[in-house]
Amino acid sequence: MNINENYLNLEESYLFSTVAKKVAQYTSENPDKKVIRLGIGDVTLPLCNAVIGAMHKAVDEMGSQSTFRGYGPEQGYDFLRNAVKNYYLKRNVELDTDEIFISDGAKSDIGNILDLFSKDNAVLVPDPVYPVYVDTNIMAGRKVIFANANEENDFLPLPDKNTKADIIYICSPNNPTGAVYNKEQLKLWVNYAKEQNAIILFDAAYECFVSDENLPKSIFEIEGAKDCAIEFCSLSKTAGFTGTRCGYTIVPKNLGRLNKFWLRRQTTKFNGVPYIVQRGAEAVFSEEGQKEIKENINYYKENAKIISETLTKCGIYYTGGKHSPYIWLKCPNNMKSWEFFDYLLNNIQIVGTPGSGFGQNGEGYFRLTSFGSKENTIEAMKRFEEAFSPAKV
Ligand code: MLT
Repeated sequence: MNINENYLNLEESYLFSTVAKKVAQYTSENPDKKVIRLGIGDVTLPLCNAVIGAMHKAVDEMGSQSTFRGYGPEQGYDFLRNAVKNYYLKRNVELDTDEIFISDGAKSDIGNILDLFSKDNAVLVPDPVYPVYVDTNIMAGRKVIFANANEENDFLPLPDKNTKADIIYICSPNNPTGAVYNKEQLKLWVNYAKEQNAIILFDAAYECFVSDENLPKSIFEIEGAKDCAIEFCSLSKTAGFTGTRCGYTIVPKNLGRLNKFWLRRQTTKFNGVPYIVQRGAEAVFSEEGQKEIKENINYYKENAKIISETLTKCGIYYTGGKHSPYIWLKCPNNMKSWEFFDYLLNNIQIVGTPGSGFGQNGEGYFRLTSFGSKENTIEAMKRFEEAFSPAKV
């Protein structure tokens, strides 16, 4: 047998696994220190009541002969697909139920979708970016080119007509920078994709953090996007499903064979999301569920404000935090990303994510998340301010 040698072109371990390993080593060597984790974007608030109630009911159904369910449709139950459909309708995006595919989260589908595309496609990825886009393409041996995101373009690169691309990744609100495209900017990407006969893979995992009604939450709010885009979304950050696992992928029928091919792929390789979880996900879209998840999102936004205010006080450049759970900051004293990571962990026991893990342009930057508890965020920022107040830097 021949092994897939493309794996040799990857970093030895996935960014968040490397961070977790370093933190585990530090905590085992320093058991008396209180480490505050603002690294991986993992939620801390529990599932809301609407979700828990629906899941309890579904558990009971599974325990009774007349309501028990075995294998479900691989693409998701219609009750959940229709709930997603109605959610999009609120923003005037009309979808057909069979354009909506329920998944176990955005990360899996973002990787799996590549089954539909040939190896010789050129892939355009912003730098810095969520490492999954790059790694999954490296695994498949595809050529990846980068669009520079930096302070000059507010971390929102726009299309360059001289760059030829077949598959284009966009994440807005962005992980890691928190930057959000407006409608005009996204329209430029849609036009570019159509000119190039390319496809946009749009990651909307952080859409629920957009609080300005004029900013797009879905690429399908942009005219023409159904002809050139697939959208991935997840309930992980929206409704605290990081451990529960549920998301959805929209493959418009305007994309021709791609919709059928994705169904074919999913029915062959995926057994669907558990019934109990899908009932919980359906409840996220109920009136009560929407109200409850908004309260949780506001809690995280409050944390983002606490972090942002501290950085402002310390005179540290940052972006994000307003329409995103991520705050992207410039490392003080010209420190490199991993150097700053070690400094924070060793001196004030705060864990963040090194910007260089998201790409070359992330070197010298650092990401903090607002997904911690309020108490821990306040405590972390107190330590941060003591270490980096202008008098000390
Ligand atoms: C992150 O911290 O970037 C995310 O939690 C990773 C993910 O969603 O897979």
